[in-house]
Amino acid sequence: MVDGPVILVGPTSGLDYRRIRPEWGDILEELEFSLFSTSNRDELCHAEQFVALAQEFPEGSFVGFDGDEAVAMGTGILKRFDGRPPPHTLLDVMPFGQSGHQPDGNWYYGITIAVRPSHRRRGIGAELYGLRKEVVRTQNLRGIAAGGVIPGFEQHKQHLGIEEYIDGIRRGEIYDATLSFQLHNGFEIVCPLPDYVRNPKIDNYAVLIVWDNPDYRPAG
Ligand SMILES: CC(C)(COP(=O)(O)OP(=O)(O)OC[C@H]1O[C@@H](n2cnc3c(N)ncnc32)[C@H](O)[C@@H]1OP(=O)(O)O)[C@@H](O)C(=O)NCCC(=O)NCCS
Repeated sequence: MVDGPVILVGPTSGLDYRRIRPEWGDILEELEFSLFSTSNRDELCHAEQFVALAQEFPEGSFVGFDGDEAVAMGTGILKRFDGRPPPHTLLDVMPFGQSGHQPDGNWYYGITIAVRPSHRRRGIGAELYGLRKEVVRTQNLRGIAAGGVIPGFEQHKQHLGIEEYIDGIRRGEIYDATLSFQLHNGFEIVCPLPDYVRNPKIDNYAVLIVWDNPDYRPAG
């Protein structure tokens, strides 16, 4: 039996979504390490950081359960930026051992969105974005920013530079299992993020993606 109230039953997937809880640190670390297996583990989110997320900003992170099994998560923190975020690395936003959460932040920063392979392409990723967008609207934040990974770059990097690869995705000529999904969820591709997380398969690149909150009201 899983603790914590179900805040949403996925309208498409039927998953039970709950807010993150400190006792799930080890489970979420296993999910993170197994789903980002080609990234440098030291720079990924560790159990104590999931615990910190649950303690500092539980309203920003969601875990999807199929029965008693955690199969998906969308985690995030608040960050303060003037305008859109400048180029950065994951460690810049979430330093070792910390959540990186800034309580007075004006942006929601997406740390991890991940779904077990057995459960993909059932609308769970889109449901997690729906929950994140609800946080942004409720807290009148500027929007969502994240470093989007680009698994498909590995197959193209011999003949395409990073900018050409991103342009191909923008134009819909190249499909990337992650970045195309982000575009279809309303994100804009802003620019490459060199050295975001060490991952030799994709030359350590991620891509800055941004979703602007259409309902944002500047403080008057
Ligand atoms: C990226 C990721 C989170 C997407 O999760 P998901 O649950 O598969 O997402 P969805 O089901 O909402 O959408 C994925 C695709 O399936 C499609 N889809 C959704 N329901 C479908 C259905 N019933 N039948 C067929 N296709 C479906 C969506 O339209 C979407 O297509 P698109 O890529 O062309 O936009 C998941 O692939 C993942 O965990 N990847 C590894 C970790 C990762 O890279 N995370 C992102 C870090 S930035």
